[in-house]
Amino acid sequence: MDLDRRTVLSGLIASAIASGLPLRALAAEEVARVDDLIRRMTIEEKAGQMTCLADSFRPFNPPNPAAGIQDEKRLAEEIRKGRVGCLFNGIGVAGARKAQEIAVRQSRLGIPLLLAGDVIHGLKTIFPVPLGEASSFDPVLCQRTARAMAVEATAAGLHLTFAPMADVARDQRWGRVVEGAGEDVTLTALLTAARVRGFQGRDLRRDDSLLACPKHFTAYGAVAGGLEYGSVDISEETLRETHLPPFTAGFGAGALTTMAAFSEINGVPATADRTLLTDMLRDEMGFHGFVFSDYTADEELVAHGYAEDDRDAARLAVLAGVDMSMQSGLYIRYLPDLVKTGAVPMATIDVAVRRILYVKMAMGLFDNPWRSLDEAAEKSRIATPAHRALAREAGARSVVLLQNDGVLPLDPAGKQKIALIGPFTEDKANLYGPWAFYGDPGQGVDVATGLRGAMNDPDRLTIVAGCAIHQPIDGGIDAAVKAARAADVVILALGESQDMSGEAQSRTVIEIPAAQQALADAVAAVKKPTVVLLRHGRALALHDGVANANAVLATWFLGSEAGNAIADIVFGKVDPSGKLPVSFPWESGQEPFFYDRKSTGRPTVPNGSTEYKARYATTDNSARYPFGHGLSYTRFVLDNLKLSDSAMRWDQSVTVTARLKNIGKRRGSEIVQLYIHDRVASRTRPIRELKKMERVTLEPGESRTVRFTLARDDLRFVGQGNRWIAEPGVFDIWVGQSSQGGLHGRVTLYAPER
Ligand code: GLC
Repeated sequence: MDLDRRTVLSGLIASAIASGLPLRALAAEEVARVDDLIRRMTIEEKAGQMTCLADSFRPFNPPNPAAGIQDEKRLAEEIRKGRVGCLFNGIGVAGARKAQEIAVRQSRLGIPLLLAGDVIHGLKTIFPVPLGEASSFDPVLCQRTARAMAVEATAAGLHLTFAPMADVARDQRWGRVVEGAGEDVTLTALLTAARVRGFQGRDLRRDDSLLACPKHFTAYGAVAGGLEYGSVDISEETLRETHLPPFTAGFGAGALTTMAAFSEINGVPATADRTLLTDMLRDEMGFHGFVFSDYTADEELVAHGYAEDDRDAARLAVLAGVDMSMQSGLYIRYLPDLVKTGAVPMATIDVAVRRILYVKMAMGLFDNPWRSLDEAAEKSRIATPAHRALAREAGARSVVLLQNDGVLPLDPAGKQKIALIGPFTEDKANLYGPWAFYGDPGQGVDVATGLRGAMNDPDRLTIVAGCAIHQPIDGGIDAAVKAARAADVVILALGESQDMSGEAQSRTVIEIPAAQQALADAVAAVKKPTVVLLRHGRALALHDGVANANAVLATWFLGSEAGNAIADIVFGKVDPSGKLPVSFPWESGQEPFFYDRKSTGRPTVPNGSTEYKARYATTDNSARYPFGHGLSYTRFVLDNLKLSDSAMRWDQSVTVTARLKNIGKRRGSEIVQLYIHDRVASRTRPIRELKKMERVTLEPGESRTVRFTLARDDLRFVGQGNRWIAEPGVFDIWVGQSSQGGLHGRVTLYAPER
């Protein structure tokens, strides 16, 4: 349609402001094209663009309960009528092309579909679960693996992934801890932004750019009791200070979609919370993309007791700011009538549709609806050797050496007889972890294969299951004890199965299953040098034969190259350098436990009385292994802490330096961490907060000065009135190798001169 320039210009500015998408993302003609489309769309076609359905063209076992349309013919008819804007969770170019052909060539307006999926830590090449990879404390690594995932996902016909999860997880009983970057806001923010950059690449219009969707907005990781889908009761200050920054970082990295959380915050389900989804997300944080509901989460407003019925639920969700309804079909069913009866203004619908069409335009879908639908790419870009090599590198970088009395590393060319014992010795079904359903379980490298592959004489390795994941095996412990007696060293492969972790897997106890604990205790009684390989999707409370082993490695769910990555660490080909992104408590009952906790009025003091102190009657409220902890095969020491000034003027920064030295006999890497503590403030402050980190690799005997810059922004918090503020006063500084100990200094922030 030929629109005169003035109309275009006025429309362009008005619509861009309404959607918030910066003009720079779209050319004027593209904005005009969207406006022209909206003018021509019927209310049904608009509601269709706001509808996202599971893909029945490319069926596979979805990670969701059955709901909505599950029939290809019916789905094809819906697309033909312009009643679907986005398909999710199917992969494969042929099926995607089929769906896109219908949308582009058979529907009235030919608006291309957005094709989405849950590529959380890999498509066919499975990388470590996000929590495991977070142990690298390395945004560059996380960006590299996200890029590789994007290359595979877009080759398989996807445009968007429902990732990264940006939820700060404060309770290890919650199963979805596994999908994020752990308990710390700074680390989660850094890795969220890195993963967004990795997924999207430099140009959204490239066919290997995968749109990101930082989720679940927000504070889903703070569900009461770690209970999945539970309620969140939180101060606005804590919401803003702990749970928003990773989303701010993700949007700052260019993410153009997000997903509202299932949970409610202070009595209002996120899916219906206009304060959250519009006032905070858009007006304050400047988010200019579009918002997905989570899977049938709009329909669930009825179960929450917040909506009268499905029609009311659709009304509440769209008025709150949910632009795209996932799987329930409520929008296509009720929005036309809600608009006709005046319950929902057409302007509200137009803003939502515009946001969605802007994103489709910004990724070039209108110019090239066949983007990412290339059979040749599907054959050449998936599960490549380069991706497998990166998965192995990321796997080794994700392993955390929790303790080691010197038993590790083992000698791959030695004479030692090794007994590999436990339910995860040759297991392939639990290598990937949750949210890896596109992967082929048979393609993963199990522990036994990895170890054998690294040994000069694989016959030195004896394998005994000893027990199943949850059950004893007849004679299993006897066989394991016998094998341990005959061996020089024992490796125990224990932990969680992948269905103990992830969505809807909240647990009241975060321990090794009893059958495995019994096995470990029996083998420990043989008193041979013992190494424990933990497989897990959360922090665990370890006990007895597991906790007292000579060495314990946290190996998470490491993905396709798990066995090789573990072998690289066990035999010393790679020096362990991972650090815990979550605290390991002494007992499950300490949850929710996180390192950046408050002092309370009666803190315990080292070697002090424990009477009438903030601790449990039987357990100190500390961590067996603290956040940021992780050992190496060499030894590092820090000394020579220096501050450029002990006074920080209001608009100045202070440089903090320390010397790191490798005093061991092997090359190794250390992640030096800088923490602060605001001693006195108008809201109580955590006893420690991670602010900076740097990875340093040193040869034996080598030392290097690590340098951090601290400025007032690093000292801010959300004060009374919910504003980010800094207050003059004294701040403790630690430069250390975990959230405990370290070199201590002090800096005083001075108020601005009057
Ligand atoms: C799930 C999850 C969400 C996922 C979506 C689509 O219930 O909460 O993270 O992206 O549904 O599978």
